[in-house]
Amino acid sequence: MQDNGGFIYIILAYYYLSIISIIHNMSSASHQSDSHYIHGTSPEEQARLSLLNTLLNKACLKEMKIRAERRILDIGSGLGQFTRSMAKAASQKPYVLGIERDQEQLRQAIDFARSSNEEELVSFRQGDATQLPLQQEEWGSFDLVHARFVLEHVRQPANVVQQMAAACKPGGRLVIADDDHDIFRLYPECPGFNELWQAYIRSYDRLGNDPYVGRRLVHLLHEAGMHKIRNTFIFFGDCAGNSTFEAFVDNIIGVVDGARSVIIENHLLTESFFDQSIAAMHQWKKRKDAALWYAMNWAEGYKPTE
Ligand SMILES: C[S@@+](CC[C@H](N)C(=O)[O-])C[C@H]1O[C@@H](n2cnc3c(N)ncnc32)[C@H](O)[C@@H]1O
Repeated sequence: MQDNGGFIYIILAYYYLSIISIIHNMSSASHQSDSHYIHGTSPEEQARLSLLNTLLNKACLKEMKIRAERRILDIGSGLGQFTRSMAKAASQKPYVLGIERDQEQLRQAIDFARSSNEEELVSFRQGDATQLPLQQEEWGSFDLVHARFVLEHVRQPANVVQQMAAACKPGGRLVIADDDHDIFRLYPECPGFNELWQAYIRSYDRLGNDPYVGRRLVHLLHEAGMHKIRNTFIFFGDCAGNSTFEAFVDNIIGVVDGARSVIIENHLLTESFFDQSIAAMHQWKKRKDAALWYAMNWAEGYKPTE
């Protein structure tokens, strides 16, 4: 993974948001919502999501090759960083709309856009991916409809892709990117990690979600009537010696740690095993020979013109 100019800034933002998180955790009792979004929206988790964007966005944009698209829809837009990146990548100033279910993510996305002086680039709207909050005239009007790391958080990903297809105009493009958690590898092995990762994967089915949805992307596009479908992997790994490596490991630690309560409450691991394994990962990331192997599944397809 290439380093980039914004990396130091993002690391600082990461630690800033982590401190806010401690304050947040002290001042608010944790609550269980009926959302299936496993990671939650604490400031600490938002910091992880922000870091993930820095590590991944460049590679995603390279694969997407956005050009003259004038209307772009981003489903499950989270903190809106990739939503803004898509707006900046277009050759002509497009209309870009991010749809996000969670009020807290939306608030942070608007704050981020404002503090980057990029408010003009995007609009955000609250709504559910399974029932897009579009006006009648907006259906079938978007040139590009995108969703990344969203299908793994819904029980019926096919419904979301159908909604995306309905929002897309004839000749337009759907892009979906998501995880297949089965392909994640660390080497040399990190004590307890395999058990931790398996428990994390199982926490998805406890919520009714598919931890392997990445492998289904082409099928989902096909079922939604798309053609000219193309798939690839986007490398999302790193190794010791690169300036980004510890951030990659911290992202994985954050991912698993975010599912801690689901894992413990469902007796998938004991608390002490969980905590020891997380501590082992913090040690592991200091190894000079450590490598993290992962890739995100990515696919696109076009809506037929008739
Ligand atoms: C892992 S984040 C990814 C955010 C963004 N797409 C990115 O790649 O940075 C998943 C986002 O999807 C949102 N989400 C989950 N289920 C949703 C749904 N049914 N409708 C709309 N948003 C949803 C979550 O609130 C969260 O912000």
